[in-house]
Amino acid sequence: MKILFCGDVVGRSGREAVNTHVPVLRDRLHLDFVIANGENAAHGFGMTEKTCKEMFDAGVNVITGGNHTWDKPDIISQMNSDERLLRPANYPEGTPGRGVGIYKDGAGRKIKVINVMTRLFMELLDDPFPKVERHLPPGSPKKSGFDAVIVDVHGEATSEKMALGHVSDGRATLLVGTHTHVPTADAFVLDGGTAYQTDAGMCGDYDSVIGMGKEASIGNFLRKVPRERMRPAEGEGTFCGVFVESDPATGLAVKVSAVRCGGRLSEQLPE
Ligand code: FE2
Repeated sequence: MKILFCGDVVGRSGREAVNTHVPVLRDRLHLDFVIANGENAAHGFGMTEKTCKEMFDAGVNVITGGNHTWDKPDIISQMNSDERLLRPANYPEGTPGRGVGIYKDGAGRKIKVINVMTRLFMELLDDPFPKVERHLPPGSPKKSGFDAVIVDVHGEATSEKMALGHVSDGRATLLVGTHTHVPTADAFVLDGGTAYQTDAGMCGDYDSVIGMGKEASIGNFLRKVPRERMRPAEGEGTFCGVFVESDPATGLAVKVSAVRCGGRLSEQLPE
């Protein structure tokens, strides 16, 4: 299977990058399934029914979340009713929505998506390690009937994400980090067959401070009070994501590549 994971979609520039590039990438890379981290899609903070619809219409199959999932509380009802939306699985028991979903692509192949959040410099949620452990198949994805298992680890610390990558090795197709909005140059297949990239980067305007307007963001560093209003930068967004191809026999990765197109960053496409 060929799967594209889209990094954090930030504001209108991010949504436009998804609208522009996902349909083209679907054709060019013969994609079977597309996942996007959407927690910053609505003006940089949270997601709404409208921003989710826009991403689904562009060809996204599943939207994952993170620390900004609830910034627009209207999403709670959709989070409960729409299985295509995920929030981190390590929120406390009773939190609306779900952190793990099982889906099918157009050919009936089964994909499991797991979303967790790390804890260092983040909210103190339940430990993501046993949570990931619990939801991963015991062996290769195919042995448990999955054609692919994708893990989105939303977090700040590279070490925590890398450790979770090794914990998942041999049991997930791809473990990819989100949240920092900066793509890392470490896409590779771990020894056990799990593709890994510490951070997918963002879909958004890089002439910014992690997607937000430069002036207000710098102002917040210079002058702590009063806090200036943060708005997403509105220039052309770069699409950042990760492409993974799985082996039909095992569901493990045979190929992984960072994907970047448009906007300010250098272009990268899978060979
Ligand atoms: Fe985040």
